[in-house]
Amino acid sequence: MTITETSPSRTIDIETLSFTSGAHMLLKRALRDLPVGGRLGVRASATGASATGTSATDFALHLRGWCREQGHEFVEGDDQFVAWVVRGAASLGRWRGAERAGLSDARENGAVCATPPADWGFAARGAAIEAGGPGFYYPLYTKEQVWAENLPKLYAQAVAAQWNPQTAINWDAPFAPDEEMERAVAQVMTYLIENENAALQAPARFIAQIHPHFREVLQLLAVQIADEARHVEVFTRRATLRGGEMGLSTVSGRQSLKTLLDEPDFALASFLLSVLGEGTFLNLLWFLERHAPDPVTRQVARLVSQDEARHVAFGVGHLQYQLATDPALRERLATAVVRRHEALSQTAGLNEEVFDALILLAAGSWRAEDIAAGYARAQTLKDEMRAGREARLEKLGFSGAEAAELSALHTRNFM
Ligand SMILES: [Fe+2]
Ligand SMILES: [Fe+2]
Repeated sequence: MTITETSPSRTIDIETLSFTSGAHMLLKRALRDLPVGGRLGVRASATGASATGTSATDFALHLRGWCREQGHEFVEGDDQFVAWVVRGAASLGRWRGAERAGLSDARENGAVCATPPADWGFAARGAAIEAGGPGFYYPLYTKEQVWAENLPKLYAQAVAAQWNPQTAINWDAPFAPDEEMERAVAQVMTYLIENENAALQAPARFIAQIHPHFREVLQLLAVQIADEARHVEVFTRRATLRGGEMGLSTVSGRQSLKTLLDEPDFALASFLLSVLGEGTFLNLLWFLERHAPDPVTRQVARLVSQDEARHVAFGVGHLQYQLATDPALRERLATAVVRRHEALSQTAGLNEEVFDALILLAAGSWRAEDIAAGYARAQTLKDEMRAGREARLEKLGFSGAEAAELSALHTRNFM
């Protein structure tokens, strides 16, 4: 096959290629760079019966039909050419008026649109979008609602930090058998799993509401959900490592967590879940990493806390982003905490079994002085949780006094 330049015309020798074996590919390629009205002389050497059963006449017939379909003009050829194909304006077809859906790389200027049209649907960011098509509906369709300044970096970190529960944790690490300690560990794990289930489902509800143009948000949330799935696994595995039973799930715990799943607003849900809930959870995981009596629990807590820190960072990051253009959101966030507090005011808060188990784990034994030390550590944990919440609230622009007030209204279930 040869293409010869004789501007504004060019010629192509299609040789024995037929339309049933890809001739259209070569024709399209040869026409691609011709201007509208430019001419392409087509030579073909199919004469009589070729290997593909195509004669020159058949080829010309096919070519005529193809031209009609593609919006080109077909001009009868002479001795040399089967035909001349004149590039038609309609041949731009689906590309004509196609709009670029931003740019794939979020770091490029203007890559991410502020309000991408809903009918871009699942199209890749950066794709040329053929006009028309089905109507999509995305309640979360503005960049302001979902984006974070640190988003591409957070996603890269999240992917790089994935770990395999089977190999990342030394499940065989030796520690002395102690039935009561195991029961306390199982109680804490049972509580943690319940919280993880909430942390998995609450953001999952929003994924299908977010415009796919904001792909890093979808990707990050998908990885976050995979993190939570892994947390459920490792906590379950630790709870039953020595053959013990799961602990108690209380009504008040479920009441507290259900309010997270019931929150229909993405900003408010991620504030309650990621900033306040997972933020508070971080302190709990650090506590377990420091004070759990066995090495497996400590390892599990350390790995999970690394993931949770990212979840908190995205929650804080995307709310900061939204607050920068919508400061009125701050008032709605505060109201959400008050509303949740009121909804839970008749509930018992954190179950005593969990708190006592935390004291015992931090004590490490039943000796009176160890229990006293464990109790003091558990009190310190509450102080650290409060201080952590206040610091995160201040990152969102709340004053010290507002932060203290809102932090005090946070659920006693921790999450
Ligand atoms: Fe988690
Ligand atoms: Fe999380």
